[in-house]
Amino acid sequence: MPLVFAAALNHAPGITGRRDNATPAQRDVFFGACARLRERLEAARAEALVVVSPEHWTNFFLSAMPAFCVGRGESHWGPVEDEPFLKIPRTRVPGAPALADAIAEVAAEHLDLAYSEELRLDHGVMVPLHLLVPAMGLPVVPIIINCLAQPLPHMARCWTLGEALRRACDARAERIGLVCAGGLSHWPATPRSGKLNVPWDRDVVDAVLAHDRARLLAYRDDDIVREAGPGGHEIRAWAVLAGATEGLGGELLCFEPIPAYAVTGAVLDMRVAA
Ligand SMILES: [Fe+2]
Repeated sequence: MPLVFAAALNHAPGITGRRDNATPAQRDVFFGACARLRERLEAARAEALVVVSPEHWTNFFLSAMPAFCVGRGESHWGPVEDEPFLKIPRTRVPGAPALADAIAEVAAEHLDLAYSEELRLDHGVMVPLHLLVPAMGLPVVPIIINCLAQPLPHMARCWTLGEALRRACDARAERIGLVCAGGLSHWPATPRSGKLNVPWDRDVVDAVLAHDRARLLAYRDDDIVREAGPGGHEIRAWAVLAGATEGLGGELLCFEPIPAYAVTGAVLDMRVAA
């Protein structure tokens, strides 16, 4: 069955951990968009969710850093962050190992996916789940991308991963949703945290909306760091969404710079359920 839902949004820990630090107007726009996206996910009646998110030194370190890792656990524990920090209760999210294996098998034609039966979930997966599936009852296949340690996977390979995800999900009988949870420009854990490059963010989102592969592949690591900070590498998650939804229309539900969350709050629905 074709993908029934595909979307991208941020996962910054401030979204839940420092929710009230944003202005009321910013909160209305961002969380209103997330609520609309959640309604659309519920209307799509997804039976499983693939969540693509960057590594944050949660599962991997310099001892071994896969470009991509698919979680094939029966369940996934998270968040790893302290509950008072992230304000999301710790739980076990059900996994979907058969779907994870199907994805890895299809992707193997063009990509080498590492796999883990013991992936732990951090804010990168748990914040979007908290916003979209707060009961945490939907089986999830997490896919982690190395957006931290050089060499990073080329944007072309992220696009290819998206294509593989679509082929794999389309071939399955169950109703599957895709959530790509990446940041745009941000400078985490640096004195510049809270700085945004809003025009750069908008260019990325517009390229994803247009499924403009050439524009996305033109982003080079040195340019990303200079213009969008080390966190800018997380646009790889957005490139996955673009690759997975080529030919489909999209709707930008929110594009709201929120320095208090250290990101531009962006919520993009590719409207595949229509
Ligand atoms: Fe991140």
